[in-house]
Amino acid sequence: MKLTVNGTVHVVDVEGDMPLLWVLRDELGLTGPKYGCGVAACGACTVHVGGVAVRSCQTPVSAVDGPVTTIEGLGSADELHAVQAAWLDHQVAQCGYCQGGQIMQAADLLAATPDPTDADIDAAMSGNLCRCGTYPRIRAAVKTAAKTLREV
Ligand code: FES
Ligand code: FES
Repeated sequence: MKLTVNGTVHVVDVEGDMPLLWVLRDELGLTGPKYGCGVAACGACTVHVGGVAVRSCQTPVSAVDGPVTTIEGLGSADELHAVQAAWLDHQVAQCGYCQGGQIMQAADLLAATPDPTDADIDAAMSGNLCRCGTYPRIRAAVKTAAKTLREV
């Protein structure tokens, strides 16, 4: 089947029930999306499908109905996405394992909610777990990214 990932069309020879996460990591070599729980409970595998955050561990590749964006394709080689830049500014990451998913979830939030309240951020990010407890920096970085995006 054909799959558009980060702007490139790929033809993959896989079973339709294979999780998108497996296709991304094992077939296409995109290891930014992480395997955490496998049951849509941690958010480490979050990518965008058609611009919307989804848990790729629980998305059969046959159900993908739009272009896929992973953390590798969120920004460009020349310019980070505002969320990525804010993550760097705030030095959010600790071990980093969850952070690709956190960033993809935050980008989805800000696309729909340009000026999120603390409650909006908590609600949108509550399904993205961080063993390292970086939640205060995540919240601060989301606010910085929101400000940046409102000014462009
Ligand atoms: S690995 Fe997909 S939500 Fe945890
Ligand atoms: S930075 Fe380590 S799990 Fe989130």
